[in-house]
Amino acid sequence: MAKIVGGLTSSHIPAIGSAIARDLFEDPYWKPFFDGFPAARQWLHDVKPDIAIVIYNDHGLNFFLDKQPTFAIGAAPEYRNEDEGWGIPTIPAFKGAPEFSWHLIDSLVGDEFDMVTCQEMAVDHGFTVPMQLFWPDFSYTDVATVPLVINTVQHPLPSPARCYKLGQALRRAVESYPEDLNVVILGTGGLSHQLDGERAGFINKKFDLMCMDKIVDEPEVFLDMSIDDLVRDAGAQGAEFILWLAMRGALGDKVKLVHRNYHLPISNTATGLLCLDSAA
Ligand code: DHB
Ligand code: FE
Repeated sequence: MAKIVGGLTSSHIPAIGSAIARDLFEDPYWKPFFDGFPAARQWLHDVKPDIAIVIYNDHGLNFFLDKQPTFAIGAAPEYRNEDEGWGIPTIPAFKGAPEFSWHLIDSLVGDEFDMVTCQEMAVDHGFTVPMQLFWPDFSYTDVATVPLVINTVQHPLPSPARCYKLGQALRRAVESYPEDLNVVILGTGGLSHQLDGERAGFINKKFDLMCMDKIVDEPEVFLDMSIDDLVRDAGAQGAEFILWLAMRGALGDKVKLVHRNYHLPISNTATGLLCLDSAA
């Protein structure tokens, strides 16, 4: 049977993709951020995932405001980066896992999560930047991927509790797949940030650190929060934290914290990296 080996969180700021393309790993601004990743890559090397399910939000690339699914999932043979720019050179396509995706879809819909199914899907920085961080030098082509999109851009957004339950349903879906596959779950985006409006530039370090702490062993503290609570404490785009909660829901009750890194600021956010092993 397939099993979930653990979860990873990472920011997905587009400027990171540009810094990778320009080799800025030793640059003083970027170094404290990039230095967080080798420990997570070592863990990936040890657990050897066959498939990465990447829970992220589309930022207006594959879905625009005219058609905005709450939950969507890819079932394509490959996924291409079509992010809007930042001068990033073309990168290789990401490998899909259509048969596995269709199993997840069957199971999730059977579990009352009515996913929009995408047999073609363009992916943006929400997906591509974390994949490049965890599998550098295009080594992400060694792992198959399933993009899973949660709407964080057009209200109403699904609640923290709903996203956590989606994660729990995703775990049941993975664990009912008959082939022996190791699966890692990524939750991308966050932490607190607001890119526009009166509070543009808003960052809440105290709340970020509470999120990094509590999501490990006490994720239930977030389940009574409303989206409005989250926007108040984390900023309009900080609502991307629901993506981390969906990841955490998929890991089961007990996890082991393998590694964490918090760095402030990169672009308009604090960056949070967590590596959680589910074999606790
Ligand atoms: C930034 C952060 C995001 O989550 C995003 O999608 C785009 C930009 C930023 O901090 O610049
Ligand atoms: Fe974002």
